Amino acid sequence: ELSPMDKAKFVAASRAADLVEDGMRVGLGTGSTAAWLVRRLGERVREEGLKIRGVPTSSRTAALAREEGIEVVSLDEAGWLDLTIDGADEFDADLNLIKGGGGALLQEKIVATASERMVVIADAAKEVAHLGRFPLPVEVVPFGRDTTEALIAEMLEAMDVMGRETRLRMDGEVPFVTDEGNHIIDLHLGRIGRPRQLAMILNQIPGVVENGLFIDICDMVVVGHSDGRTELRD
Ligand code: A5P
Repeated sequence: ELSPMDKAKFVAASRAADLVEDGMRVGLGTGSTAAWLVRRLGERVREEGLKIRGVPTSSRTAALAREEGIEVVSLDEAGWLDLTIDGADEFDADLNLIKGGGGALLQEKIVATASERMVVIADAAKEVAHLGRFPLPVEVVPFGRDTTEALIAEMLEAMDVMGRETRLRMDGEVPFVTDEGNHIIDLHLGRIGRPRQLAMILNQIPGVVENGLFIDICDMVVVGHSDGRTELRD
């Protein structure tokens, strides 16, 4: 028996899995919602003989996809993708997103941007009027990490944000390390007034590799509810 939250994630993932067609090259997202999608696609591969090539957005998703019997290829082997389906931490009415709660934002953004279409699967609790209550993940290279964090803090001073706290993401006693060997600084902002501007300015800081704001990348959100209903936002 699924918890209400898992049920909401599951129905969103199942509905999005039905968007996948034979022959598609599909970006496979990361996180608990995306894991439901990968399992459902695995079922379709085994039961219907669905033929797809999957491009995972993390080592975790790659392992799951292989277990499920989905053909896994790299992004450069696949080239342009037909569709990417991924979770999100927050989405707003413009379908802008915060992603990276699971630490996979860099590969997720590269894969989503290389896709004809990006569909987000999310439980209804992730819909927000303003992005920013969820801490914004920023991926930074290990070299000069503290200096980069200080530069980010200085930049936030000048921006239209409520909170300004920066926090290095930890994995127990040591800094969390991404699939690309980088670290993550989570920005506790409360409310992001100008997400587009913030996303651009963050990426101007030399040690920053990428940030978790996905602006104009998502084409549709499949919202799942715990009673089994789904809604489409586009
Ligand atoms: C992974 O880096 C994130 O972008 C996930 O897509 C996001 O954290 C959503 O995860 P859940 O589906 O587990 O909530």
